[in-house]
Amino acid sequence: MKKIKIFDTTLRDGEQSPGCSMSLEEKVKFAKQLEKLNVDIIEAGFAASSEKDLKAIQEISKNIEKPIITSLARCNKDDIDKAYKSLIFAKKKRIHVFIATSKVHMKDKLHMSEEEVLMKVRSMVKYAKSLCEDIEFSLEDATRTDKEFMVKVITIAIESGANVINIPDTVGYIVPNEYRNIINYIKNNVPNINNVELSTHCHNDLGLAVANTLSGIEEGITQVECTVNGIGERAGNAALEEIVMALNVRNDYYNVKTDINIKEIINSSKMLVDITGSLVQRNKPIVGENAFKHEAGIHQHGIIQNKNTYEIIDASALGVNEDNIVIGIHSGKHAIIKKMKNMNINFDINNIDMYVSEIKKYLEDHKTINDDVFSQIISKSKIKKRS
Ligand code: KIV
Ligand code: ZN
Repeated sequence: MKKIKIFDTTLRDGEQSPGCSMSLEEKVKFAKQLEKLNVDIIEAGFAASSEKDLKAIQEISKNIEKPIITSLARCNKDDIDKAYKSLIFAKKKRIHVFIATSKVHMKDKLHMSEEEVLMKVRSMVKYAKSLCEDIEFSLEDATRTDKEFMVKVITIAIESGANVINIPDTVGYIVPNEYRNIINYIKNNVPNINNVELSTHCHNDLGLAVANTLSGIEEGITQVECTVNGIGERAGNAALEEIVMALNVRNDYYNVKTDINIKEIINSSKMLVDITGSLVQRNKPIVGENAFKHEAGIHQHGIIQNKNTYEIIDASALGVNEDNIVIGIHSGKHAIIKKMKNMNINFDINNIDMYVSEIKKYLEDHKTINDDVFSQIISKSKIKKRS
């Protein structure tokens, strides 16, 4: 089965988003967790952004054995030198060079013509290659780039030594079908494309980052860039856990695999929340508090009989073994019976309607009920019945 490489950029694109900055120690701690998660590549930072970032990449490099460590650089010598310096302790290293290629970025941000951008790509990818064997090249704002110009940029980047070409949807603008078409166009028009690995890097401004990433995989892309909990610039990056679990659960459709240790997904998510204080919404797929919980009576009745009625993901494979039946205002008697059995509470089945009504009465004034209150209400109902 074809393997999809997971390129984690939580420590670079994720860390540069508001409220997600980390200290050096925190970055090293999280990088070690990424190694446990078994990602293939860790983008450890952007060395030219600060001396602190450069030092952090060095420290991460000293502490990581297996994943490739990559360091980001703009298309200039100073950035590339700093990226190289930041990687001196890495067992496996990659320099990630990028330049913007859309008209709006070239004209109003870089103030460069197409010709100037092409020259920069040629000279700077060559320079990076003279320092490091593994070179990734990204076309920033690729999805808003003129397609013919994109072909020229990619052709030159490959001729100059890039072995990975990344096609970012920098502003989260593209939709899945269009993204597929862009990748297809590149594959059919860049003469030397078969010599390199293609990569996605999708942002989530329209909530389509994961869908676009998956559409890239359908078109043959073999590396995906993503972040834990989907953190990143603005609305974030494609969420690692959602991509990995989509490929896992719908293996029948995608027929590809990742090497991610899925038992470490929730630990990684929790560690990131702990470090950054940036919370995950309750209903976030895979890592949200409610992701595997059922409160509605009809759903609870269904899963008590057969989990397949309402569960597509085996929560225990992710290490979630706690009770997924939540007693709430919408729960029915099947769930309350199950809960009493789970808690080893003695009960009289003839009184079930009374237990349900007492529990619901409590829940009219409270959003949730904990185990202690639950068992107290059942005990009180039993006493009431006897007297
Ligand atoms: O979103 C983007 O285009 C990036 C590049 C630097 C890869 O983060
Ligand atoms: Zn990005």
